[in-house]
Amino acid sequence: MSQGRAPVRFENVSRRFGDVVALDGFDLEIAAGEFVTLLGPSGSGKTTALNILAGFDRATSGEVFIGDRAVGSLPPEKRNVGMVFQSFALFPHMSVFDNVAFPLRMRKVARQEIAGRVARALEMVRLGGYGDRRPAALSGGQRQRVALARAVVAEPPVLLMDESLSALDLKLREDLQEEIRRLHHQLGTTVVFVTHDQGEALTLSDRIALMNRGRICQFDTPTALYDRPVSRFVADFIGRTNIIPVDDGAGHVAALGLALDARPVNAVSLRPEKLRRALHAGDLSFDAVVEDVAFHGATVESRLRSPTGFVLRMSETRSGPLPPPSSGETTRVGFAAGDAVPLFD
Ligand SMILES: Nc1ncnc2c1ncn2[C@@H]1O[C@H](COP(=O)(O)OP(=O)(O)OP(=O)(O)O)[C@@H](O)[C@H]1O
Ligand SMILES: [Mg+2]
Repeated sequence: MSQGRAPVRFENVSRRFGDVVALDGFDLEIAAGEFVTLLGPSGSGKTTALNILAGFDRATSGEVFIGDRAVGSLPPEKRNVGMVFQSFALFPHMSVFDNVAFPLRMRKVARQEIAGRVARALEMVRLGGYGDRRPAALSGGQRQRVALARAVVAEPPVLLMDESLSALDLKLREDLQEEIRRLHHQLGTTVVFVTHDQGEALTLSDRIALMNRGRICQFDTPTALYDRPVSRFVADFIGRTNIIPVDDGAGHVAALGLALDARPVNAVSLRPEKLRRALHAGDLSFDAVVEDVAFHGATVESRLRSPTGFVLRMSETRSGPLPPPSSGETTRVGFAAGDAVPLFD
């Protein structure tokens, strides 16, 4: 049912609300068929960016492109995008069938064709046979799937989703994440997805644009964001990490044996799972006091104190070679120098 897919581009887009700068020279290039997530803390400008792309808001300056068309001055219905909102507003007085048929009727698609396309869209979100129900007679997850079917039924080349799963409980959210991944494969549509949930972003996306204060801090694949964060903000936002400052006068980084390169490094990020007690040849290592040990199911998390007094977290899998450390003991802990990531701001 794949019809087309379109690249999407933001070119130097700014949006001001009075004194508030919601987007600040925002640049982003999304390839046709790519699944890109805008991720960032509350207020970072994610919804503003999506609304400007959808046509519900206009940029103060800059331009947005869908395909090779500048769409900044087109109304939403001329942009050919599908959209799922956080508060999946279905029409309560209409059946599931009529809800999903709505975008096709707006486009004046022929009656006979509508029936088939709605049936296929409902089948795709595994709601075949639910056409006659009213939204009130569905569970939250089913309603969200109807909203998804309505967004894709007209086969838009671009699909936008704003926090569309965050209202759901964990299990349902994971099911729908799978559904969305499957739909993306099946339709080949370009997807721009907005969430503040990093786990969701890491699982779903081809690339993630991590935002802060109306700008992009890093636009990269999930693994690159996790393994090679460029700044303290990114390292801290994605996953958990130890951020070891370079210039607080205590010499923590030097004490770990790390030689820093010539660029002005601000801090070093060392993921808790990169620290280990079973040392490998060539590891940098130090004596650590184990201050606390917590059992987390598959992993054991320890709080360590370095000789310079710096507190680090270590995460070890329980299937590792050594029994868990005990609180109060001193133990040798190491890591590969390459796993310490220099942060430049
Ligand atoms: N209509 C408006 N009038 C004034 N300020 C606004 C308006 N819409 C958004 N803002 C401001 O712009 C900034 C970005 O808001 P936006 O809704 O894009 O954030 P967000 O990243 O989607 O956040 P959240 O994760 O909370 O949904 C915020 O400071 C917000 O208060
Ligand atoms: Mg938002």
